Amino acid sequence: MRIALLTGGGDCPGLNAVIYAAVKKGINHYGDEFIGFLNGWKGVLDNNFIPLTLEAIDGIQLKGGTILHSSRTNVKKIPGGIEKVQQVLKANKIDALIALGGDDTQSVTLYLCENGINAVGVPKTIDNDISGTDQTFGFDTAVMIATEAVDRIHTTADSHNRVIVVEVMGRDAGWIAYASGVAGGAHVVLVPEKEIDIDRVCKLLKYNYDHGKHYGVVVVAEGAHLPEVGQVINEAAAKDSFGHVRLSGIGEALANLIEKKTGYETRSVNLGHTQRGGVPTAFDRLLGQRYGLHAIDMVHEGKWGRIAVLRGTDIADIPIKDAITTNRRLDQRFFDVIASLEAKV
Ligand code: F6P
Repeated sequence: MRIALLTGGGDCPGLNAVIYAAVKKGINHYGDEFIGFLNGWKGVLDNNFIPLTLEAIDGIQLKGGTILHSSRTNVKKIPGGIEKVQQVLKANKIDALIALGGDDTQSVTLYLCENGINAVGVPKTIDNDISGTDQTFGFDTAVMIATEAVDRIHTTADSHNRVIVVEVMGRDAGWIAYASGVAGGAHVVLVPEKEIDIDRVCKLLKYNYDHGKHYGVVVVAEGAHLPEVGQVINEAAAKDSFGHVRLSGIGEALANLIEKKTGYETRSVNLGHTQRGGVPTAFDRLLGQRYGLHAIDMVHEGKWGRIAVLRGTDIADIPIKDAITTNRRLDQRFFDVIASLEAKV
């Protein structure tokens, strides 16, 4: 078969591992040929691609980012977009498409499948919030980076008797905040699933100061909601083509509120895209390769409109529509972990 791959949406450590495994198995075991469209769906619309040979993918499973580059391009919104995609795939004699991306990218994959294109999906996001899969690749790397940052914040906050708020990624779900906050021993962990109770945050921090610990570490997800404010948005930034606002700044807003309400000197740090950069962990390289191997098998089994998922320790697949209808968010079990480790206030 002649197969095309692409990566859409925010990049994620482990994307290259997926590409590596799908292409390697496809060439060696199925006799396939591959091309990679550059810059996500934009590359398909622009007919911009590179050949993906064994030489081209050699060693890429160790690297972060995506050798195919990425963009947030919504084909559904572009007049004539679907026709253009059909035309480009036909001109390049593409039998099947493997799309690596989160819910936005996969909403396009599904739309194309509904319009007669043979495509399968691989779930990607450091946010770990895709329904139907127990873990997306990239999450483990992001948690490792965020946890290391939280660890480091403890010593500087302690030295200066300060509160420091660490803002991590997590637009709709607080998986990174939960994992790095608990692993990094934060005193307060705040997630998008629960509105922030600022008085309780201050009480938790005061507990530290009243019990001989003159500093505090707060981890907050970028998508957490402040009462009366909601999510903190970068108003100057335009919405992306899927209609998403750019989140940023809750850490700073929260730090200002904490300082005002408690009188403790407070700082904030936003980890931002650091969490998406650099080499994937061993776990993400392995998970990415397992997803890639499953994706190429899905293609040869004609499982169009389906997406690879991790179920427990097994890789399986489900309809794309089941993966993108809702976000997978933290539930009571995780709130209980956070609450059980907090001071009793
Ligand atoms: O990939 C998801 C994500 O990391 C979100 O947590 C974050 O809001 C968004 O991407 C940032 O995207 P961009 O790279 O376009 O600023």
